[in-house]
Amino acid sequence: MKVIVTKDYAEMSAAAAELVAKQINDKPDCVLGLATGSTPEGMYAELIKGYEAGKIDFAAVRSVNLDEYYPIKPDNDQSYRYFMNTKLFDHVNIDKANTNVPNGLAEDAAAEGARYDKIIADLGGIDLQILGIGQNGHIGFNEPDTELVAGTHLADLTEDTIKVNSRFFASVDEVPKQAFSMGIGSIFCARNIIIMASGANKHAAVAKMLEGNITTLCPATLLNLHPNVTLICDEAAYNG
Ligand code: PGA
Repeated sequence: MKVIVTKDYAEMSAAAAELVAKQINDKPDCVLGLATGSTPEGMYAELIKGYEAGKIDFAAVRSVNLDEYYPIKPDNDQSYRYFMNTKLFDHVNIDKANTNVPNGLAEDAAAEGARYDKIIADLGGIDLQILGIGQNGHIGFNEPDTELVAGTHLADLTEDTIKVNSRFFASVDEVPKQAFSMGIGSIFCARNIIIMASGANKHAAVAKMLEGNITTLCPATLLNLHPNVTLICDEAAYNG
C-alpha cells in the first residue's frame, strides 16, 4: 500500500482531488467509484474548483457509488444520492444518467445487489475507487464480522456505525438500520483504490490496516491484498 501523509484535512482533500483529476484527464470516460461521508467532502469541493477553472471535464465520466441507506427515497436529504447531487454532480458537467447509486427503495435486496454488480461489470469495472474508513475499520458498509459478503448486498449497520452516523440526523432513532453496500468483491473490481482518512478518531483503524495483517474484523485490512491502493491521510489519522 502506498501511503501519503498530509499536514491536515485540506491537504488530504487536495492530494486526493489531484489523483482523481489525473484519472479523468488520462481517461475522460473513466469509471469512478465514489464515496460519501465527511471525509471526501473537501475532495469534491476541490474537484468542483478544478471544473470551474476548466481543468477537469466530467462530460464522459461514469460513476458508481459505494452505498446507499435502506430504506430511503433518493430525494431525502440524508440519502447518498442527494449527497452526491448536492456535493458534486449538480456543480459539474457530469451526465447524471451516467451516475449510479444503489436503489434505496429496492424491494428485492438480492435482485438489487445483482443488478448493481452487473452495472459495475457492464461498465468494465472501476478505474478508481474512493473509500473512507470507519472508526471500526469498515469500508463502504462492510462492517466488521466473522464473514464478509463479496457482492453488493443489503447490510445491517452496527450499533457503532449508527451512533457515529447519528451526527448527520436529528436523533439516533432516525438513522436507517440497513444500507446497500458494494461488497469487498465489488470494491476489488477497481483497478486503483484511494482510501482517505482524517482525524485522530481514525488512527486506530488506519494503524490496524497498516499493520499488514488481514482480518474480516477490520475490513479495511483486506485492502492489503489489492495491488494498487493509496492511503491518503492527515497526520492526526496517521499518528493519533
Ligand atoms: P466519514 O465516514 O467520512 O463520515 O468519517 C467514513 C466511513 O464511515 O466510511
